[in-house]
Amino acid sequence: KGPIVPAKQPDRPACRLVASGGPPQLGSMDAVLPDSRERAQASLRIDELRALLRRADDAYYLLDRPMMPDADYDARIRELRALEVRYPELASPDSPTQRVGGRPSDLFAPVRHAAPMLSLDNAFTLEELQAWYARVEREVGLAPALFCELKIDGLAVALTYEQGAFAVGATRGDGEVGEDVTANLRRVRDVPPRLALEAPPRRLEVRGEVYLPFAAFEELNAELTSQGQRPFANPRNAGAGSLRQKDPSVTGRRKLGLWTHGIGAAEGLRLERHSEALGWLSRAGLPVNPSSSPAASLEEAWAFCRRWEAGRGALDYAIDGVVLKVDGLRLREELGATAQAPRWAIAYKFAPEERATLLHRIEVHTGRSGKVTPFAFLEPVSVGGATVSLATLHNEDEVRRKDVRDGDTVVVRRAGEVIPEIVGPVLDLRPAGSRSWPFPATCPSCGTALVRAEGEADWRCPNRTGCPSQSVEWLFHFASRGAMDIDKLGYQTGLALLERGLVRDPADLYFLTDRQLASLPGLGPRSVRALLDAIERSKDRPLWRLLVALNLRHVGPGVARKLAAAFPSLDALASASAEELRAAESIGPEIARSVHGGLREPSMQALVEKLRRAGVRLRDPLPERAAAGPLQGMRVVLTGALQSMSREEAERAAQQAGGFVASSVSKRTSFVVAGEGPGSKLAKARALGVEVIDEREYLRRLGRG
Ligand code: IVH
Repeated sequence: KGPIVPAKQPDRPACRLVASGGPPQLGSMDAVLPDSRERAQASLRIDELRALLRRADDAYYLLDRPMMPDADYDARIRELRALEVRYPELASPDSPTQRVGGRPSDLFAPVRHAAPMLSLDNAFTLEELQAWYARVEREVGLAPALFCELKIDGLAVALTYEQGAFAVGATRGDGEVGEDVTANLRRVRDVPPRLALEAPPRRLEVRGEVYLPFAAFEELNAELTSQGQRPFANPRNAGAGSLRQKDPSVTGRRKLGLWTHGIGAAEGLRLERHSEALGWLSRAGLPVNPSSSPAASLEEAWAFCRRWEAGRGALDYAIDGVVLKVDGLRLREELGATAQAPRWAIAYKFAPEERATLLHRIEVHTGRSGKVTPFAFLEPVSVGGATVSLATLHNEDEVRRKDVRDGDTVVVRRAGEVIPEIVGPVLDLRPAGSRSWPFPATCPSCGTALVRAEGEADWRCPNRTGCPSQSVEWLFHFASRGAMDIDKLGYQTGLALLERGLVRDPADLYFLTDRQLASLPGLGPRSVRALLDAIERSKDRPLWRLLVALNLRHVGPGVARKLAAAFPSLDALASASAEELRAAESIGPEIARSVHGGLREPSMQALVEKLRRAGVRLRDPLPERAAAGPLQGMRVVLTGALQSMSREEAERAAQQAGGFVASSVSKRTSFVVAGEGPGSKLAKARALGVEVIDEREYLRRLGRG
């Protein structure tokens, strides 16, 4: 085994325990003496955790291939630490809890650090930060000013400059001895070969973090995959792998970045505050992260933490928390450090965006358009600030590509507002005898054989009108807030209506009687009235909502609004050719085909007739102003830049004058307005013999001339 920092008795247990998550049952420890069975169980669990964590350490530090997400590693370290606190006789100096970093590999020459490169204690909540700050306050007798920095999720390095020239670069290694990666660091663009100082210190050791930006990470993984190699799990491992290359020219190609965040040792430098040191580093030409900020109080520091926890998506590199540091350097000395971490700093760790959990089973669901989507039932896990128990697997190819199987431990990711996704299985934890998951051949709802068209990713249930799952999903979609907005129609009611045959398609809703509704379970007279009223009100919705409700492929609210702006009624839309549909703004060929074909299907035509009979409005009332405008009924196409107004203003002006703005030129175009630098639309207008006018003439026709 490699060198390990010896376990010292923590001289300030309260601080360490709080900062590291704390033992869960401090109170109960005094009250009940654990009996020997419990102790034996704890001993087994300790062995198990140590073995697992050692394997994970090696995978992480030596192979740059993490076995599990950080959050799970941290949780297991916390569990082990709690057990070791509870059963001190089972503690051991070679436990993974006593390690500062990994062990240095023998790929590189060893370098002893001028001062040990320590780790940071973690806090996961405001309360834990408060406990840390209270302890600092007690220790130094005042409420010290803090400095907040992003916690870069990269690889810790120490750079030594001698007489202003970059001399030695090392990884952290075990904290005392790191790996000599000087030649590789010379190839990192952000590492200046010389300090930009007139009189540099004789010797300076700076500490920082090497990282791989997201874009470079994606690029690298794409390259590895195309060469049939295994991609990296995350930017940090990719960064570590890129820095720890035998051939420095490989490192040089990897677009690594560096942020420096402190001084390890400096000869002849006198500074009072950390913030001052960062300013000095920056002036010396070293990269200092600009998103740092002084905080006069813990409240201010907390606001910084919250801001970046929500805002980290805006960065082009990964951060996993915020580091709070006491700004005064003399106070820091007073506070000192334990064997593992300084007392003058703490890392506030963000809610993890990745966690591992058990995948119970994969199932498929048939949606409102017949698309059959596989999804995973997960053991509930808290990730990205939400509890996740279901995750979509999108389609067959995705399941195959990720090769996730029933019973796998999988990594689940949820970043910001993004829908949770399964990153992939943890192969080391795959149960023996597991088999890859076969996509079902038939619809789980109606048993119809599924079809997958050539070139498409999705399997579909072709039973458009008779599949219960499609019917209920469509009915629910039809009534949803984004469509006809029938707010009293819940899922259960919809299901009951379909099951009893009272509704076969959404148009049947408009023919329901109060007697029929009253026969449903759980609907009293008052609910029946409210539902009938809601159905009645939905007859006058704007055309775009009706278009969304009709469930045509590719027609969401955005496309529906465009279509409704271009065509006055559902009938006009239904009788338009695919080409005419395409003339509407941002309507591409695929959407045009889907609308054109969809509205011509016999079942859809029958549905529209039923809606008409029910008195559902199939056109928007004409806006008064538009009816009176000078461009009434005209189709206008704009091309090139105008002097007096933006493109948006020019479009709005046409619409307010009663005209319609089309995105492409056709024979039906009334005229084309050509501004500065017109595009191909001008040529097309000339070819079709469509009138072309300039800006002055346009303004005149708008009545603004
Ligand atoms: S200060 C004595 N500042 O996080 C340690 N560390 O988990 C002082 N890290 O070992 C470290 N960003 O490698 C500091 N702005 C930052 C940091 C940062 C990332 C790393 C550093 C440290 C690790 C602890």
